[in-house]
Amino acid sequence: MKMILKEPGLGLRDFRILPAYTELKHKTENVSLRTRLCRHGDDFICLNLPFLSAAMQAVTGTEMATALSTLGGAGVLPLIASVEEQCRMVRAVKRHRGGFQTDLVTFSPNQKIRELLTTIEKMSYSIFPITDSGLFHGKLIGVITDKDFDPRYDLDLDVRERMKTGLQVGVEVDDLKEANRLMIQYGRGFLPIVSREGTLQSVVFKKDLDRHIKHPEEAVDAHKRHLVGAAISTYPEDRSRIEALVESEVDFLVIDASDGFTVFQKETLEWIKHHFETPVVAGNIVTPQAFEMFAGLEADAVKIGMGIGSGCTTQEVKATGRGQATAIIEIAAARNDHYKKTNIYIPLIADGGIISPADIAVALALGADSVMMGNFFAHFSESPGELLYINGEYVKEYWMEGSRKGFNLRRYYQSSSAFFEEGVAGYVPYEGSVFDSIPSAKQRLKATLSTSGAESIQDLHKNAVLELQSYSASEAGRIHDMTVMKHRETALPVIGKASH
Ligand code: IMP
Repeated sequence: MKMILKEPGLGLRDFRILPAYTELKHKTENVSLRTRLCRHGDDFICLNLPFLSAAMQAVTGTEMATALSTLGGAGVLPLIASVEEQCRMVRAVKRHRGGFQTDLVTFSPNQKIRELLTTIEKMSYSIFPITDSGLFHGKLIGVITDKDFDPRYDLDLDVRERMKTGLQVGVEVDDLKEANRLMIQYGRGFLPIVSREGTLQSVVFKKDLDRHIKHPEEAVDAHKRHLVGAAISTYPEDRSRIEALVESEVDFLVIDASDGFTVFQKETLEWIKHHFETPVVAGNIVTPQAFEMFAGLEADAVKIGMGIGSGCTTQEVKATGRGQATAIIEIAAARNDHYKKTNIYIPLIADGGIISPADIAVALALGADSVMMGNFFAHFSESPGELLYINGEYVKEYWMEGSRKGFNLRRYYQSSSAFFEEGVAGYVPYEGSVFDSIPSAKQRLKATLSTSGAESIQDLHKNAVLELQSYSASEAGRIHDMTVMKHRETALPVIGKASH
């Protein structure tokens, strides 16, 4: 039935959070950012940091996904990659296992150096355990690295002729601190871990371990492997992609569609639920009616946002979309009702237009459990976009999935013959590594929770008081009536005082 809603849709920046009484338990060091990402059977997959990197070619590759899971969040690998490439990326992220690596390529001593070289070129691994059978759980007899042979002369030699034997190993070591101690003692960058019988169990790499010790909040699965998600489409030809991703042990699937309130999404969700146990995030939606459909289909999480991505032109070219705050408020109310009726909690992911920790805080306070960000992550060296030098500034390329450069037709149900852009391509300032920036973003978010009198995101959901601001109130909340000095500007010294 036709309706004309006369209340304006609101954006995240229309709201501010009122301070509440801050107790000792709300001090930033006591605040937890742990959150529910999606349902997983009767339980949840949780993150220690409520951040997901967007399923965009300019944002999430292996490097970003691994970095983000190291920091406690998770990356979603984009749909546009080939099935093989997307599965390879999933496996590459999951290879990181809280320090102990089990996804290793092993060789037998009788294989040729030529085969080893092919593997090195294909997988860019550099250290290979040698076992008697050549299989992972064989008896460890040596190790060969990419430095132990000369590709000009050794290709037809057996691996046994170049491998190193007499290895120093850790026997049944399952404590990372002990593994670290042994690596320091042996002066090695890696340590094979074997059973009492000498069977290979895992390898610990110094660089992984250092990272693990530095970032104890890694987001990991039940086997301590890093969490990662992958985008899929509603197109029937992507069903084999879904099967391959599940086989590659992806932790969660994300149906990547600009408009999720469709029969295609319904059928895809039903099909996945019927065939697999892997959690599935449905979206994107902006109305409670769409949420009801997803809840009825047992979606494991729901992603909210349409027409508000930083480089998105959907609202301009199609006049469709909704203010992100209004969308979250209405869907969170529907989610809470659903929870009251069924005791089933469906986590919400706010996606699009979330650029700063202040935006993140408002999205969470309104009812989102986590946020997905593209622009925010595109700034960092770990994103796949090129680093460019433009007008005296270092910048990173950032392009939207619906732009000509992104050309993600399945996300927009478009055909190549009548393609129109729903997003632009451009660039964002370069900000170095995500590892250097996230601690400050995290601290700012914790400070918001602390001021709001919340110990956790769940606490914020229950108790946050948000207020809609007038234009002049929000103007007063920005820098005004002064000029900010840029770092590079040097002020001329004033000689004497201004005279009247
Ligand atoms: P951002 O964080 O504001 O840059 O928004 C990123 C989000 O925008 C993604 O996670 C997608 O949901 C959405 N998005 C990606 N590409 C496009 C596009 O071409 N048009 C509209 N929305 C897009």
